Amino acid sequence: MLTTQQKTFRRFWYPTVRLDALSDGPKPFRLMGENLVLFLDAEGQPVALEDRCRHRTAKLSKGWCEKGQIVCPYHGWTYDSAGALVRVPQTDGAVPRLNVEAYRCAARYGYAWVALEEPLAPIFDIPEDRDPGFRRIFQFYESWRTAPLRLMENSFDNAHFSFVHKRTFGNMAQPKPAKYEIEETDYGFKGFTVAEILNPPSAHQVTGCTEPLTTRTMHNHWYMPFGRRMDMEYPSGVRHIIINVATPIDDDRIQLIQLLFRNDTEADCPAQKLIEWDAAIVEEDREVLEATDCDAILDVQRKIEAHMPSDRPGLIMRRRLLDLLRQNGEEEITRDYSKAPARAGLATTKEVSSERLAEPGFEEVL
Ligand code: FES
Ligand SMILES: [Fe+2]
Repeated sequence: MLTTQQKTFRRFWYPTVRLDALSDGPKPFRLMGENLVLFLDAEGQPVALEDRCRHRTAKLSKGWCEKGQIVCPYHGWTYDSAGALVRVPQTDGAVPRLNVEAYRCAARYGYAWVALEEPLAPIFDIPEDRDPGFRRIFQFYESWRTAPLRLMENSFDNAHFSFVHKRTFGNMAQPKPAKYEIEETDYGFKGFTVAEILNPPSAHQVTGCTEPLTTRTMHNHWYMPFGRRMDMEYPSGVRHIIINVATPIDDDRIQLIQLLFRNDTEADCPAQKLIEWDAAIVEEDREVLEATDCDAILDVQRKIEAHMPSDRPGLIMRRRLLDLLRQNGEEEITRDYSKAPARAGLATTKEVSSERLAEPGFEEVL
């Protein structure tokens, strides 16, 4: 699937720019291949407009704000928060009836969220954001060269811990993944799993536990198409709730947005330590996800990728996203694989993989 070519994904909300970054002027953001300018209107609410002046195409994000309107840096044409041209400084008040595209924009969880077209679902709820027992930590805001589905399926893939995270919490001696119990919902699915992890002294403040091995009891959620909540609880009672959205920029690029909610205090574990702790883990994921093909194929019948039993969450995502596209009158758009030069070993891999699929465990995956 080439994400930005699937029009259905334009009908979801995505976090773009942090609200506090808008207080010192307009900012650009590229969403699903569209260049946007974000700024604050006269009431301090975020606005998202097309980042292209109707005069000579200059980027409005290079301009500035005046009373909640945006001024083009080139000749000063000014647009209001609905995208209408309201001022041409070179004339005596005559303003042509022109506008730039205005998109739905909402302030939530410290970010400006944008939906390019009529949304199919609301912004998902994070009850902890209004719960005084939790603190919100802005963990990451990074551009990665990968597809959003790759990040989503990775989030529910217990089989990668031992390998990708061997330098942090992964246990190479125990590569067999814990099973996920999945319950599908209208918004995606809920997943429950308990994972055993290493708990080195450097992790004690993070987990609130001191045993060399500990467990993460996880109640996770996937919000179609590219949002997830990873709700971990340690035996100490410490909750570590990670919220991610893989906001699609281009087919091969996402903005990784990660918020963390914790039910402990700064004295128990400083925010900076939590950022550094998860940074090492996230960096391990980035390294491997940037080494995958951004054309993550939804239709498993094409057998372009092989699967194993622990891939079930990612396979459910593929089926649900394919259904979603079809319900909205679209088919999956991918690169053209029919013209791909035959690669040595490819046929063999396919044969082996279909043979293996007949084995218990593998068969049930599809
Ligand atoms: S290009 Fe924007 S005012 Fe001229
Ligand atoms: Fe990971």
